[in-house]
Amino acid sequence: MNRSDSITHYLEQTSKRINRELETIFRDDMNIPPSLKKSMEYSLHAGGKRIRPILVLAAVEALNGNVDDALPVSCAVELVHTYSLIHDDLPALDNDDLRRGKPTNHKIYGEAMAIMAGDALLTHAFYQIASMKQKNLPADRLLRIVEELSWFAGPRGMVGGQVADLEGEQGITSLAQLEYIHRHKTGDLIVFSLRAGGHLANADEEQLEALEQFGFAIGLAFQIQDDILDRIGNEEKIGKRLHSDEKQEKVTFPYFLGLEECIRAVKEYTNKGKQAILQAEIPNPERLLELADYLMNRDY
Ligand code: IPE
Ligand code: IPE
Ligand code: MG
Ligand code: MG
Ligand code: MG
Repeated sequence: MNRSDSITHYLEQTSKRINRELETIFRDDMNIPPSLKKSMEYSLHAGGKRIRPILVLAAVEALNGNVDDALPVSCAVELVHTYSLIHDDLPALDNDDLRRGKPTNHKIYGEAMAIMAGDALLTHAFYQIASMKQKNLPADRLLRIVEELSWFAGPRGMVGGQVADLEGEQGITSLAQLEYIHRHKTGDLIVFSLRAGGHLANADEEQLEALEQFGFAIGLAFQIQDDILDRIGNEEKIGKRLHSDEKQEKVTFPYFLGLEECIRAVKEYTNKGKQAILQAEIPNPERLLELADYLMNRDY
């Protein structure tokens, strides 16, 4: 892809590339029960923005790595993300009936199958990465990616954040606790995506640290923006019901700060993230910087 392509063209083309790869991951010879495959594919191909896999590939590109070789890891992160959404929507969690512009997984396939589809997507993510040995990625780098995916998605990462979100209570949860929730339920998978791109492109520790700081800051901005859109977004555009947080009495940034202050916070975190990238020795940082701005201004 040409570096001067506009960000919207880049996002379109890169999503297409990721979608093509995602089409190939459940092979016929795996003999997956058709009902399970249908349920997984329903959510996987429902039209997500593919932000996390795009961040993997953009980090690889920023470090002059091989983008094609990075596709399996970029798909893996989308599998984990999609599982998290299916489970997040369940009646026991956020109890939502619309996702990616379609009825939620459990509304179509039932709760039991939605739980299984999530489990299967999560597990298959690790297969996707481990089977990259076919692509001559040095085993030590592959192992670090596997270690970090379990670290950032597991009990001290995304799942920990989801549990804290579940247990958060308006009036009791502090702003510091809310930051913990956002950092882990959303930020951690974004940090993983960037660091994984770094590992794939053989980044040094200083570059990895810059990618992590960038991910931390834009991850927080991303979830604050998600909370803003839950209040003032357009249901058709975001593909989710508005006011889900209010209904579930969730603790959110708008709850603490009000909308205007939230919009300011999104800008501030985005700029902090961009600074981290600019201050490090990243040979081609442009796409990452453009992506940060794009996410700050998103309305879906
Ligand atoms: C939604 O993520 C869940 C959050 C962590 C805020 P996205 O806004 O990236 O959802 P999709 O993948 O585009 O559907
Ligand atoms: C979800 O946060 C984070 C994860 C799924 C890990 P939200 O509950 O705010 O996400 P949406 O708004 O339902 O997409
Ligand atoms: Mg939730
Ligand atoms: Mg939710
Ligand atoms: Mg939300």
